[in-house]
Amino acid sequence: MKKVLTFGTFDIFHYGHLRILERASKLGDELIVGVSSDALNFSKKQRYPLYTEEERMHIVSALGFVNGVFLEESLELKREYILEHKASLLVMGHDWEGRFDEFKDICEVIYLPRTPSISTSDLIERIKIEF
Ligand code: CTP
Repeated sequence: MKKVLTFGTFDIFHYGHLRILERASKLGDELIVGVSSDALNFSKKQRYPLYTEEERMHIVSALGFVNGVFLEESLELKREYILEHKASLLVMGHDWEGRFDEFKDICEVIYLPRTPSISTSDLIERIKIEF
């Protein structure tokens, strides 16, 4: 049983989110997703996501190829989350390339290419400008 773990905010869920989760799920037997909390996002970006953590977790957990979600409450707890969920593979988008190599002692770490031309920040900017 190969458990895959990935993390993200997944605010204003979009096609890039769908594609990374779908690809991650195909790399193992089970996909677990750590959805970063509202407080964690605020501490990183000084703004809250548009969708609440409950809404973002609900959306991600409704995907057929996602087997479980949990709230990621601290960036410092990645190692604990990997061990707690008995993950054998950590998947991240290539915007994080190299940043999680320190966990290669406890699981495999793979960075997948991002889907071009879409991001939550970009969507927010486009909506502000175009509507
Ligand atoms: N992701 C992706 N392709 C995109 C956008 C995101 O593969 N076009 C991946 C990221 O690499 C990450 C996961 O989706 O592994 C969650 O990313 P998140 O930061 O929540 O989404 P972004 O759209 O990048 O949000 P933001 O613009 O706020 O950084």
